[in-house]
Amino acid sequence: MTVVLGIETSCDETGAGLVAEGHLLSDALSSSMDEHARFGGVVPEIAARAHLQAMLPVVRTALERASLEPGDVGAVAVTAGPGLSTAVQVGLAAGKALAFGLGVPLYGVHHLAGHAAADVLEHGPLPQRSVALVVSGGHTSLLLLGDLARDRVVHLGDTADDAAGEAFDKVARILGLPYPGGPSIDRAARDGDPRAIAFPRPLTRPSDPPYGFSFSGLKTAVARWVEHHGGPGGDGVAVADVAASFQEAVADTVTRKAVAACRDHGVDTLLVVGGVAANSRVRALAEERCAAAGIELRVPPMRLCTDNGAMIAAVGDALVRAGAPASPLGLGADPSAPL
Ligand code: KG4
Ligand code: ZN
Repeated sequence: MTVVLGIETSCDETGAGLVAEGHLLSDALSSSMDEHARFGGVVPEIAARAHLQAMLPVVRTALERASLEPGDVGAVAVTAGPGLSTAVQVGLAAGKALAFGLGVPLYGVHHLAGHAAADVLEHGPLPQRSVALVVSGGHTSLLLLGDLARDRVVHLGDTADDAAGEAFDKVARILGLPYPGGPSIDRAARDGDPRAIAFPRPLTRPSDPPYGFSFSGLKTAVARWVEHHGGPGGDGVAVADVAASFQEAVADTVTRKAVAACRDHGVDTLLVVGGVAANSRVRALAEERCAAAGIELRVPPMRLCTDNGAMIAAVGDALVRAGAPASPLGLGADPSAPL
C-alpha cells in the first residue's frame, strides 16, 4: 500500500492530504482568504507568500492527523496547474523537494481533475467516463473525464468572464448581502419567487458555444434592474425575489449545459463539484434534470468540494495504482494546464 501525499496551492488555500488505495487518511488546510478580502480578490503575491509560510506546517499537520511520519509517504502528488502561477510554484517547489528528499516518485496533477477526483474519496471509483461541472469562486468548467490515471482532462467549456461563485459574490454585494455571497443569496432566495424577474440565461441560444459560460452580463442585468427599481434598499427592490430569480438563472444555465454535455457525449454520470455545488437550487435542479435524463448525479460532501490537498492525493493515488510514469523533477508550473 502506497501512501500518497497531495499538495494543493493553486489559489488561496494551502492544502495537504494523505490518501491510500482510494481512502482518505487525513487532510489539512490553511487559507489566506482573509488577507485578500480588502483587495476584493485574491492577490497572487500575497497568496504565494502565505503558501510559503503555511506549506510545511500543513504537511506536518496532515501527517500527524494520520499518525504517520514523513518516511511513510510513498509518493507525492502536486497541483501543476491551472491556477495562479506564483501560487502553484510554491506548492510545486515543496512537492519536488519532498519527493526528492524522501526518494519517492512525484506526480504533477491537473487541479480540475483533482476537483472531480475528490468524489472518489466519498463515493468510490468513477465510471469509465463522466462529465464534471466544476463551479466555484475560481472556476466554471465542464470537463469530460476518462480514466483519471490514463486520460487527459478534456475541457468542454469554461467561463468567458466571471466564475459562477464570483457572480454570486458580486450580486450579493449589489443587494447588500454579507460575504460570502453564495450562502447569503441561497438563504435570501428561500423566501423569494424565482420567476419574479426574467434575468437572462447567458450563452443559451443555439448559435452560442454549447458548453461555454458567461456571468458578467447576468451580474450587470441584476445591477441594472436594482438601479432601475430604486437602488439597493429601495422600496421597489424585493431582495428575496431578486436573489431567487438570479439564482434560478445560474442554476438553470449550469445544469442545462451539464446535462446536455452528458447527453452529447453518451455519458451517464455527472459530477457537480466546487463551492457552488452547495447551492440548494443548483442541487435540486441537477437532481431533477439528471433523474429525467437517466444520469447518475454525484456531488461530493462540501469539505471535499473546495480546494484541498486530499483531492490532489486522490489523483496521485489513481496514478500510482495504475503504474503511471512519474513526472520529471524538472516539472514546471503550468498555470493554464493542458487542454
Ligand atoms: O470552491 P470554493 O469554496 O472556493 C474557491 O473558489 O476557491 O468556492 C467558493 C465560492 C464562493 O464564490 C461562494 O460564494 C460560493 O462558492 N458558494 C455558493 C454557496 N456556497 C458557497 N454559491 C451559491 N450557493 C451557495 N450555497
Ligand atoms: Zn479549485
